[in-house]
Amino acid sequence: MTAAPLEAGPAAAWQEGFAALAAADPTLVELARRQHTARRTRLNLVAAAGPTLSEVVAAQALGFGSVTAEGYPGRRYHPGAEQVDEVERLAVRRAEDLFGAQGANVQPLSGSAANLAVLSGLLKPGEPVLSLELSHGGHLSHVSGRANLSRWVESAHYHLTAAGEPDEDELLSLVREVRPRLLICGGSACPRKIDFAVFRRAADEAGALLMADISHISGLVAAGAHASPMPYCDVVSTSTYKQLCGPRGGLLLCGRRSPVTRAMLDRAVFPGLQGTPDFGAIAAKAVALRFAAGPVFAEAMHRATRYAGVLADALAASGVALVGGGTDTHLILADLRGAAATGAQVEDALRACGVLVNKNLVPDDPRQAGETSGIRLGTNELAFRAVTDDQVAAFAAELAEVVARLRDGESPRECQAARRLTATAEGLAAEGFVAGFSG
Ligand SMILES: Cc1ncc(COP(=O)(O)O)c(C=O)c1O
Repeated sequence: MTAAPLEAGPAAAWQEGFAALAAADPTLVELARRQHTARRTRLNLVAAAGPTLSEVVAAQALGFGSVTAEGYPGRRYHPGAEQVDEVERLAVRRAEDLFGAQGANVQPLSGSAANLAVLSGLLKPGEPVLSLELSHGGHLSHVSGRANLSRWVESAHYHLTAAGEPDEDELLSLVREVRPRLLICGGSACPRKIDFAVFRRAADEAGALLMADISHISGLVAAGAHASPMPYCDVVSTSTYKQLCGPRGGLLLCGRRSPVTRAMLDRAVFPGLQGTPDFGAIAAKAVALRFAAGPVFAEAMHRATRYAGVLADALAASGVALVGGGTDTHLILADLRGAAATGAQVEDALRACGVLVNKNLVPDDPRQAGETSGIRLGTNELAFRAVTDDQVAAFAAELAEVVARLRDGESPRECQAARRLTATAEGLAAEGFVAGFSG
């Protein structure tokens, strides 16, 4: 398909729209300006976050988001969907190609919605679910904790060993006891790689379906920096904004040789759970999936795991304990149990240094979720910054020193190391992004 210049159509509309917005709502525009500046003055090490490709942001503004059309390409419940049908087909094809899936659904409005569609669409009422315990790195949308679904769906939870792997004996005995209809692997604070074959064996014990939630590692999987769940899992879910540089949204994929077909996933999403999808987000997912198939993205994902290793080694060298003993991914979880400072206090002190990390529960955390005994760090954004390995190593050493001092009760105000870190983080944040990535 040949394209006429954007200036003739959507781009002219953006310019008019921005000009009208600036005149009509200066308060909002000022907040947007500050948000934009913050991205260039702070280093974001929140493991659940990642940089958004600027083409993704632009794709969301192309106007597809205003189309109302429930259903699927060629089978809509509203007229006028000719263009968005093609947009959705493109996104589906790119998702299937990128992950080697036998089917994809690109409509979920978020990762949580993708999981909810699977739970509500593939399970009968009363059928149990087995998933990772929340404080061991699971996620609310896996029928854990205070998620609404926990009131309606039976669930049991397995745990990770000190090495950050599932306790296989416990997993097998729970599978035999609970007889889950769905076993879920993956989570939100798992630094170690996932061995999908272990979960397949466990699922087969009970004839359960196996779902991998790869929200945190979908970029690593796409780039081959983490094994693919496709040969082992029936369904794979992910959000698209954490590690795929995409828009807020979710994605569902059918595993290879799975009894779960694309038609089943489609029905689970619509009419099972959602109405009209966000076609602006679907267009943006198509853009992100195309980028994720290229070399700039793949190199960044390999850097993400390498930098995470550098950060983990620096923390360990400073005497900071790590959940799982280290990392195989982009994610590190520092264990501050028994420390003078809580995860929340360390998060605050690092934010004041221009480094964003988040407080996180650690296994068997004695503190509540609002305080926690852990901090979770990730390298999704750092991997796209135009920085050298030496810069990352120096930054890691300084960050580790600050974390160790805060852990031991040093006041952030008196911490000389925090001042050094502030200057270093500012320098790194100002570096901009690697060639080929417009963030
Ligand atoms: C493992 C996992 N699954 C799902 C989600 C939810 O994704 P979303 O924020 O897109 O609903 C998260 C969020 O952090 C997550 O960590």
